[in-house]
Amino acid sequence: MAEAGALGEAAMGLYRDTYAKWKNHPHEFWADAARDIDWVTPATAIHGAEGWFTGATCNTCWNALDRHVAAGRGDQNALIYDSAMMGKVKHFTYSELLDKVATFAGVLQRHGIVKGDRVIIYMPMVPQAVVAMLACARLGAIHSVVFGGFAAKELATRIDDARPKLIVTASCGLEPGRTIAYKPLLDAAIDLSAWKPSACVVMQRAALKANMIDGRDFDWSMEMEKARAAGLKPACVPVAATDPLYVLYTSGTTGVPKGVVRDNGGHMVALKWSMQHIYGINPGEVFWAASDVGWVVGHSYIVYAPLLHGCTTILFEGKPVGTPDAGTFWRVIADHGVKALFTAPTAFRAIKKEDPKAELVKDYDLSKFEMLFLAGERGDPDTIQWAEKALGVPVIDHWWQTESGWPMASNPMGIEPLPVKYGSPGVPVPGFDIQVVDEAAKPVAAGVTGAIVVKLPLAPGCLPTLWENETGFHSSYLADYPGYYKTADAGFIDEDGYLYVMSRTDDIINVAGHRLSTGGMEEVLAGHPDVAECAVIGVADALKGQVPVGFLVINKGVNRPMADIEKEAVALVRDKIGPVAAFKTALVVQRLPKTRSGKILRGTMRKIADGEAWTTPATIDDPAILTEIGEVLAGAGLGKKV
Ligand code: COA
Ligand code: AMP
Repeated sequence: MAEAGALGEAAMGLYRDTYAKWKNHPHEFWADAARDIDWVTPATAIHGAEGWFTGATCNTCWNALDRHVAAGRGDQNALIYDSAMMGKVKHFTYSELLDKVATFAGVLQRHGIVKGDRVIIYMPMVPQAVVAMLACARLGAIHSVVFGGFAAKELATRIDDARPKLIVTASCGLEPGRTIAYKPLLDAAIDLSAWKPSACVVMQRAALKANMIDGRDFDWSMEMEKARAAGLKPACVPVAATDPLYVLYTSGTTGVPKGVVRDNGGHMVALKWSMQHIYGINPGEVFWAASDVGWVVGHSYIVYAPLLHGCTTILFEGKPVGTPDAGTFWRVIADHGVKALFTAPTAFRAIKKEDPKAELVKDYDLSKFEMLFLAGERGDPDTIQWAEKALGVPVIDHWWQTESGWPMASNPMGIEPLPVKYGSPGVPVPGFDIQVVDEAAKPVAAGVTGAIVVKLPLAPGCLPTLWENETGFHSSYLADYPGYYKTADAGFIDEDGYLYVMSRTDDIINVAGHRLSTGGMEEVLAGHPDVAECAVIGVADALKGQVPVGFLVINKGVNRPMADIEKEAVALVRDKIGPVAAFKTALVVQRLPKTRSGKILRGTMRKIADGEAWTTPATIDDPAILTEIGEVLAGAGLGKKV
């Protein structure tokens, strides 16, 4: 990390001390943090070849629920379910949540789930999703939550990779203006997958009942009753600290998602530490991550971190706008006494668009609200400044990935609030030695852009491997910069040690805070019978940050309206990847711009589409093609005419 310079000792003293304490004595630092966790047996090594806290045994559900009830927190709200979709609020105390989780662990046990078995959870934002996650943790089973906006094929890929014994789902999800039947998507996924789960537990929602398959599908409520009647409430099963707690699939550079593994011990230590030191939250306070349990933010900061820390967490089913209006977030903050909100900048861009003067804020009592945290995509200065003005609280951009599981760079609010620098997600979090390097893995000077890497070993909580794919783990993250973890982000560190994350170095794009692979979309488009060649790029979008745009070269001799093919291409991506891809624009072009060695010039196409300055690459095969691309984009109302 670059040494803190201009801001000086006074502004960064406590942070610098804490960072130095970690850097000089990492094992002592994490051993100290580990004292906040209940262990069944203590670690024999803080970090060993197998990972963090080797030799220790523990249980994540115990630390999230049982220990708080035992310590007298039973009557405090653990979870508040606020559904703006249904106009319904439900509170669960720690005792109540524990009762439900232990009972559902009984349901899982009746279906033969034991430690190490995988359970896929494909659910909308309902409390049962959280109950299912924690019940898996209780038994030492490994959950894999799949976001509801993914299509059947994506779910099938995950079923084949995780090979779950059981799948938990709900009959439907509620999106503004439409009810999404989940069960037919699950049935289609199981038809497509080679691996077949032995059972599915289905939560029936009033809005739409699912058809059940005899012998395979079981009703959530009936199963809970049976477990209750049988008095089944299994105790927490001790697992090794290094055993997997969950697998969460995330986009890689191809259509095959990566199964990010999270362990039990390191994860608990890191998340508990982060609540106090990064987020500045005390046990008993209310923390709200407005994300989805299907994403890493949902795993870490809706479910695990707030509960490990003895907080009240909010599970919000709704959108920042339109459910019913752009004041919903303020309503939730006021109603439940939220101290800190964590969401993606895109949510605030949506609110700003609807209520530019933030008039609706005035209708609510936000006196308990102290901090707003943003992540998932770059926090653009406009949005941050708007939010600061509208809410009158610090707005903190922080940077992390599915792989890290918790922030790698932040303004450490619980250690000491540092001066905000717009456009930067702050400084390296203790545990992360972040460096910017050139192609030869040599650190570059302050202010110089390069690849952002993290010196190994990664902090507790970060992925130890990819699910049953150690080779893929090495080739994706460790091979390019020996001794470092490759984040696949590019940026720089300034003279004061602040990080700036500017872009990805791979084909991942960020759509409304959701991470998507353009390579995956290209694989789908290439499957269209009339498509000879294609390219997908992420184009700047005022609301979602980026949206994908596809370019299609059509096979010779195809004699159908091109507009029909464009429509089919859009439908194909929605059908194969899901609505979350937000793929709405496919454009037929005569040719794709390429280098003489045949590499498609996606970077130049993106610059044209974004109206940025661009130069014709020296290696281009035929410069005229860039003009053609510019004309097609202009025809679609994108980019600047070239
Ligand atoms: N199940 C099924 N479909 C879903 C879904 C789910 N769980 N979540 C989203 N979708 C659908 C949406 O209905 C939408 O479909 P459409 O194309 O028919 O309109 C599509 O997937 C894209 O969804 P989304 O990206 O949420 O866009 P939106 O236009 O509905 O809303 C925002 C835009 C900005 C309001 C929304 O993205 C948002 O609230 N983002 C908050 C940030 C966030 O959650 N980030 C996650 C990481 S922190
Ligand atoms: P995900 O794994 O879905 O959380 O996406 C991680 C990626 O999102 C990172 O690698 C970055 O490209 C991007 N990202 C997340 N947070 C930020 C941030 N605060 N600033 C810039 N980019 C971010």
